Parts: sequence; structure tokens; C-alpha cells
Amino acid sequence: MERKTWGTASGRQVELFTLDLGQGNRAVLTNFGAALVSLYAVDSRGTAADVVLGYDSLEGYEQCDKYFGVTVGRYANRIGGAQFTLGGKVYKLAANDGQNHLHGGPGGFAKRVWEPEVISTAAGEALKLRYFSPAGEEGYPGNVQVEVVYSSTGTGGLRIDYAATSDEDTVLNLTNHAYFNLAGQGQGLILDHELTLYADFFTPTDAESLPTGEIVSVAGTPFDFRAKAPIGARIDEDCDQLRFGKGYDHNWVVRRTEPGLCLAARVEHAESGRILEVLTTKPGIQFYTGNYLDGVQGKGGAVYERRSGFCLETQYFPNSLRHGHFPSPILRAGERYQHTTIYQFSSK
Ligand code: BGC
Repeated sequence: MERKTWGTASGRQVELFTLDLGQGNRAVLTNFGAALVSLYAVDSRGTAADVVLGYDSLEGYEQCDKYFGVTVGRYANRIGGAQFTLGGKVYKLAANDGQNHLHGGPGGFAKRVWEPEVISTAAGEALKLRYFSPAGEEGYPGNVQVEVVYSSTGTGGLRIDYAATSDEDTVLNLTNHAYFNLAGQGQGLILDHELTLYADFFTPTDAESLPTGEIVSVAGTPFDFRAKAPIGARIDEDCDQLRFGKGYDHNWVVRRTEPGLCLAARVEHAESGRILEVLTTKPGIQFYTGNYLDGVQGKGGAVYERRSGFCLETQYFPNSLRHGHFPSPILRAGERYQHTTIYQFSSK
């Protein structure tokens, strides 16, 4: 695997790693925030373009509040009132999104330098990134040892394996926050991309984007992507849910007929022929249409306007500790957290 120094952060070396994904595709990864920096995917003519948003420099990632491509933890998305109760004890967290806690807090996993190791697996070389999060970090209990392994599917896709253990009961909800644009990053809005979500239900939110606890059928709503539809077709419809999120910024319930990896989403971009499929072992997927991008200066002089990238974040449901009927994000002492997500690329 090609690797090169990118800079230093917190006095530690930060590198860039290039992982061959097969089929002419490749991913550029870094141990800062265990982030996906670039993903070059070929189109139907065999031309590669970088299809994820991000920055050219490490400083960009250090200062970023958009979470481009990073590993989010300890808890992806929001925890209401920036606190939770576990084992009868109240844990107070940073309120970094109004009065709520977002994406593990300002010093979450996205801002940490991870320990990199190039390993060899049956699927070829892979990048293992490890991080030790001490008890009390960002307010969460338990000493947590976490690892993220990026590997190739061998067929043009990026596989992400998450694993973690804790010495105390805690909560853990890891995801990757890549923003995709299958036309190529910086190539306009994503409203013409056609999306299928393999989900029959979603979890509506309140005005602060916290799930209310309801699990509602997508039938007859702008949240119905059971049959492929352009992302922009109904995004500005006059309804509270789209107003609250300023577009799509919601969790869908992955349709699961058996445990293990299942297909959660598929996105097609007609002009380039590029296709992204998302497979996961997680129960939920947050579809976010970059509603809070506001002219961010990105890679190669690109400017990221509102809705110029979309995220498909595989996860436990947001604020799930508050709703006992949501799948539990609790990681018990000594148990192993283990999840896999695949971003598979192809073209037609
Ligand atoms: C959240 C958005 C948030 C974005 C960037 C998404 O996962 O759902 O509300 O603005 O991340 O932080």
C-alpha cells in the first residue's frame, strides 16, 4: 500500500494511504479521524473521478465541522439534551448542536489521531486504524479500544469493519460520514442522482432533528424511496419533516430479512453511469443531503454548496437510548462491538 506523510497533529504523524479497490477504483485514507479522503471511481467510459467531498490539507480536517469522510464516534448523530442515563447514572456530554450532542462531541473520534497499521488479509492489504478512548473522554463511560479496518471488496468497493470493546457498560454507535457526489466532487448538486432505499419505515424527528420515537411507514410520503427516485424529486415539498431537516436528514429502518450484511441503499448517476451500493449490518441508515453545506472551500478549488453531496450513514438510530423500542446501542463490558459497511462502486 502506498503511504506518505501528510503532516502532524497533536504531535503525532498523520499519513495518507492509498488502497487499491480493484476495477480501476482506489481510496485515499488517513489516520486523522480514520477518514476517507478521496475515492476515485471509474465511470462507464473508464474515466476515474474523486466522488467524495473533502479537503486537500490536514488543516482542513482539523478545522472542519462538516465531518467529511471521517469515522464518527462515540455516538453518531444526536443525543438529546446532551446527556444520557445508563445503569442509573447520568452522563453529561458537550452540547455542540444547540442543546444537543452531535457526532461524539467536539473532541470525538473525527478529531483524533489513530494508530495505523497496514495488515494483510485474504482480500489483500488492508488499513487497520486503532484508537484508545479513555473513560470520561467527551463525557462517555468506559475505556474503549476501537478499531476500523478499511479493505477492498476486490470488485471496486470499500469495506469498513468496525470493532470495539469496553471495560464498562457504555454506548457506541460508529459510522462513516462520507459525502458522495457520483458526478465527481465539486461537480454541482446531487439532486439528479437516483436513490433507492431498501426501507419501509423511517423515524420522524422534532424540529431539532431528534427522533420522536415514532416509526412511520414511508408510503405516500416524500420519504418513499422503495422504488428508485431522483433525490430532488420531492426534497422541497411543503411538510414539517423536510422543513425540520432543511431537506433529507433522517434515519431509515433498514429492511432486514436475516442478520448480517444486507443492501440498504443504491444510488445511480445516469450521466456518468456510476452506481453506489451501500451494504451494512446496522439497523439504520441516515440519509443526509448536505443541507448545511454553505460554500465550503474543498479539494482542488471546489466549492461545496448546499446539497452538493449526500451521506448514507449506517448506524443505530439517533438518540436511541431515549426510546426503548429502538435497537439498543449499549455496549456491555467485555462484549465485542462489531459491524461492517460496504460502499460498493460500479458503472453501467
Ligand atoms: C446530521 C446532520 C448534520 C451533519 C453534519 C449528519 O449526520 O444528521 O444534521 O448537520 O451530519 O454534521
